[in-house]
Amino acid sequence: MLSIITIVVGYLLGSISFSYLFGKWFKGIDIRKHGSGNAGATNTLRVLGKGPAILVLLLDAFKGVIAVLLGAWAAPGSDDIWIRVLCGLAAIVGHNWPVYFGFRGGKGIATTIGVMATLCFVPTLIAGLTAILIIAITRFVSLGSLILTALLPFLIWGMDRPLPVLWISILLCVFAFIRHRTNIVKLIQGKENKLGQKRA
Ligand code: G3P
Repeated sequence: MLSIITIVVGYLLGSISFSYLFGKWFKGIDIRKHGSGNAGATNTLRVLGKGPAILVLLLDAFKGVIAVLLGAWAAPGSDDIWIRVLCGLAAIVGHNWPVYFGFRGGKGIATTIGVMATLCFVPTLIAGLTAILIIAITRFVSLGSLILTALLPFLIWGMDRPLPVLWISILLCVFAFIRHRTNIVKLIQGKENKLGQKRA
């Protein structure tokens, strides 16, 4: 029962859309109607600037960390890793489809980083550093995000991490590609926004 409650709490926590709240607090706008229309750190950078974007990135990742830790607290045994995985998944589902904001949220990358870094630090670190390198070279955050989620299952499999962690990484990769479908089309058409570019 406690495990189910923590999964629900994970979803409610993930549903807190910091980019939406910052948009309202700092500029009185709905961030989903500006820039790329995404409620996430990259669009916060475009619309609100560096400081709020860094905060959104950290807070969105942090809610993923907290959700997994909640699962670990509710079911501490290593056999119960599924509860941790499900709590993390719930937070990402909440971020992407937030109950408080009409189920229109972000693309889940920062929260995915928080969840996966807590579940398996080294593979996430390697995937994260690779993503940073890709973004630094291409200036496409979306491309870095997609490569990050696509790399994770291979790294987790290669490093022999628990099966539930491998399964969630595959599911999160599918989520990321679905949520980035507009970005993928724009990347193919050469119309994707580059980091530092103002317009969507
Ligand atoms: O994590 C979101 C990022 O990959 C793309 O964001 O606003 O450019 O669609 P955006």
